[in-house]
Amino acid sequence: MNTALWDVYARCYDAVARLRPYEKMVREIVGEVPERPGRVLDAGCGTGNLTRALAAKQPAEIVAADLSAVMLRRSRRKNPGVRHVRADLDGDLAEVSGVFDVIVCGHVLYALPDPARALATLKSRLAPGGRLVLTTPRAGAAMGPIVREHGVLALWRFLLPLLVVGAINARILRASSYHFLTRAELSTLLGTDEIRPTYSGQSWLAVYAAS
Ligand SMILES: C[S@@+](CC[C@H](N)C(=O)[O-])C[C@H]1O[C@@H](n2cnc3c(N)ncnc32)[C@H](O)[C@@H]1O
Repeated sequence: MNTALWDVYARCYDAVARLRPYEKMVREIVGEVPERPGRVLDAGCGTGNLTRALAAKQPAEIVAADLSAVMLRRSRRKNPGVRHVRADLDGDLAEVSGVFDVIVCGHVLYALPDPARALATLKSRLAPGGRLVLTTPRAGAAMGPIVREHGVLALWRFLLPLLVVGAINARILRASSYHFLTRAELSTLLGTDEIRPTYSGQSWLAVYAAS
């Protein structure tokens, strides 16, 4: 798979991480993770913001996986004690061994060619009683509400990288290969009704609990 877009995105992605709605979303994801959760996989870790926040839950081990070498490099810098793996979530995840008590997957599903297959793979890697916590942009998602919730005037300090992010997102929104799901579509794909809006109402936060 071509990682060029993600490698470029990696260089400005942390402008997103400074947005208050993003910070709130990370807290909401971490809020769905139990204390001392054993093994945790951050599937599509990006620059490692969620990985870093997960450390507060004191897991026995965190594995951070991503396809983009540039994203991984940035995440490694933020999370020096964490094992990082270059892995393709569009495959069978052979790069990552074993099962996990918690898998988090923040804003990755929409970018995968076959979300149903990827979800089946992630679910197959949950330990009994494990939890999959994911966020994904909803159908009709837009940047406007996110920027407004942060506060337009408060953007000036990181306006330039944010403009690059905006341009990348505009390209993503135009492309037909991304999957922006309705609540009903995500519910059917994931097999859960535990879905609520997050990220200024522009994304879904879903929790799937394995039996
Ligand atoms: C929008 S970023 C989200 C990063 C991070 N999870 C967060 O919430 O900040 C999407 C991430 O998915 C990764 N990604 C895209 N396709 C992937 C694939 N097939 N396998 C693994 N990672 C992938 C990208 O490299 C990028 O780091």
